[in-house]
Amino acid sequence: MSDDTPNGFEIGKLMMSLWVPQALHAAAELGIADALANGALSASALAARLETHPEATERLLEALCVLKLVERGAAGYVLAPLGQFLRSDTEGSRRAWARLMGGFEVWRAWGRLTECVRTGEAAYAVGESRRTETETFDALFADATAATVFHQAMADGTRGQALGIIEALQLPRGASLVDVGGGFGELLCTALEHDPGAHGQVFDLEHAQRGAERLFAERGLSERARFVRGDLFETPPPDADWLLLKSVIHDWSDERSRTILDNCRRAIERGGRLAVIEPFAVPQGSDVPPAFAWIMAFSDLNMLVNTGGRERSREQFEELIGSAGLVVERAVSCGGFYSGLVCRAA
Ligand SMILES: C[S@@+](CC[C@H](N)C(=O)[O-])C[C@H]1O[C@@H](n2cnc3c(N)ncnc32)[C@H](O)[C@@H]1O
Repeated sequence: MSDDTPNGFEIGKLMMSLWVPQALHAAAELGIADALANGALSASALAARLETHPEATERLLEALCVLKLVERGAAGYVLAPLGQFLRSDTEGSRRAWARLMGGFEVWRAWGRLTECVRTGEAAYAVGESRRTETETFDALFADATAATVFHQAMADGTRGQALGIIEALQLPRGASLVDVGGGFGELLCTALEHDPGAHGQVFDLEHAQRGAERLFAERGLSERARFVRGDLFETPPPDADWLLLKSVIHDWSDERSRTILDNCRRAIERGGRLAVIEPFAVPQGSDVPPAFAWIMAFSDLNMLVNTGGRERSREQFEELIGSAGLVVERAVSCGGFYSGLVCRAA
């Protein structure tokens, strides 16, 4: 089979597609989409603005054209509709995602996939990294910039899903809420906007505080939202009517997840509720949209290498939840990829 057959190209493209997130990462990191937001620029004008090498900049722009992120016109390079997502200020911005996914830490972790599959361990626990990284987020939160990129990426990813999740949960009016491991608190902000009588807290590590408080201020919610620093494994979150736990459990092993759930149970023992919000993994071949099958398979591997966690089926979540002294009262579909399990203390 030669490389110019359709299948030869397909397999080659799959292998070389490792180049793609790096091109997106470079574009995002350098701020190419923001620089092109106001109209066409030649490669040399763009390079002058970004203080990059003109010829290398043109070569990157050509690759971005192939990816349909940028178009080459008579007046220079312009952003294509898909490229708008690489801007920092668009509604569906994915600039932080591109910075995170093509960034050194994620990239390095994926470079250890073979060893992770051999051992079943996350990248931080295999090979040389064993000496320096001891826990899930050590590498991803290595410095303030890395942590901010991570939290911004999570907030951007949550934004489009948040209203569907909050509506599906049918929270009681005027409730006290805690967004546990809420990062910048995108989900909490959406819940508070949805119910002007509600108030809440984000419970997360210190490096999310500044970004969360900025988001509260931007959304006019500083009076009703506050950030509480805390460690999921050391202290229960603050008591509340409802705890929201979105995209947290999939980061962790069953054992670590049980500790988180156990701590959450303590915070709702006086009649509160916990909503565990995650996509549910389904067996291969199930009747789901191909995009869902793709994202779940690769997200599961991403959890293996980056965090040591996993994607789980509804049954696996229910078993885990039950083992932490919680009872699932109802399951809701949140639209999009997410589902929620509403739990109370047993
Ligand atoms: C995948 S993100 C999910 C963020 C947010 N819930 C969302 O869905 O957009 C996981 C969150 O868990 C937080 N986290 C990780 N380890 C933690 C710990 N030991 N204590 C508190 N929060 C932690 C991270 O800072 C991050 O905000």
